[in-house]
Amino acid sequence: MERPAWAPRSIDISVPSVSRIYDYYLGGSHNFEVDREAARKAMEFMPGLPKIMQANRAFMRRAVRFAAGEGITQFLDVGSGIPTFGNVHEVARAAVPGARVVYVDHDPVAVAHSQAVLAGDDDVDVVAADLRKPQDILSSPPLHRLIDLNRPVALLLVAILHFVEDADDPYGAVAELREALAPGSLLILTHASYEGIPLPAERARGAVDVYKDIRNPLIMRTRDEIARFFEGYDMVEPGLVLMPRWRPDSAPEDEDPYAFSGFAGVGRTA
Ligand SMILES: C[S@@+](CC[C@H](N)C(=O)[O-])C[C@H]1O[C@@H](n2cnc3c(N)ncnc32)[C@H](O)[C@@H]1O
Repeated sequence: MERPAWAPRSIDISVPSVSRIYDYYLGGSHNFEVDREAARKAMEFMPGLPKIMQANRAFMRRAVRFAAGEGITQFLDVGSGIPTFGNVHEVARAAVPGARVVYVDHDPVAVAHSQAVLAGDDDVDVVAADLRKPQDILSSPPLHRLIDLNRPVALLLVAILHFVEDADDPYGAVAELREALAPGSLLILTHASYEGIPLPAERARGAVDVYKDIRNPLIMRTRDEIARFFEGYDMVEPGLVLMPRWRPDSAPEDEDPYAFSGFAGVGRTA
């Protein structure tokens, strides 16, 4: 298989990655046949997977606009993925010119493509780091250059925590990040769950198993388990809800049933 110019030398292009599978669901071009094969296999069980990803992105954009409306000008997006239409810095800047954004991902393609897209932009940067090691994120030079931790930050953990297994202590990682944030900071989060999926759980499990097979398990958590990530935050109305129900721009009833597969919420630190 030929390695395109955007693919870093370090990656094994015969192994699928969740970042590139997600790029495929969203109609992007930074993916390989192995990624598309895994995505198509998962879609045999859940044909509406692209609708879930679109609902996730749409929530993310509404939440960033909400944060900007609350006066937040700094954004830390962990698990930011491969840049696509309507990225955080574009949405934030449309609302607050001069907004600063630090993207973080552990996937080399996500990092390399972010660097390419952001080259020459002084208010946005990308860090190659792992959510499971929050100190690597907090001590990174781009974060110190762009984000003043004495002022409120919007921390985005959008569609990432369901890739962190309990054994890797996702709750501890989120708490460590929260401790570094000034009062008035926001946590913007989405998470996969069997609750809300318009299919019997046994069928949805077929799609979840695809991620297990590629050694990037997708951890489905219950609403209560997801709510625990907000410990230490006050929930912004309407609380932790199925994605299309969070401050919708249009009637949630008009959404595809698959859009309701996963929870979204925003919390504020006191
Ligand atoms: C489904 S994508 C979500 C992208 C973006 N946040 C969005 O919602 O559109 C998940 C991203 O999280 C990244 N990711 C997964 N586990 C991670 C970890 N432990 N540390 C950093 N990034 C991680 C993946 O590489 C991938 O790019």
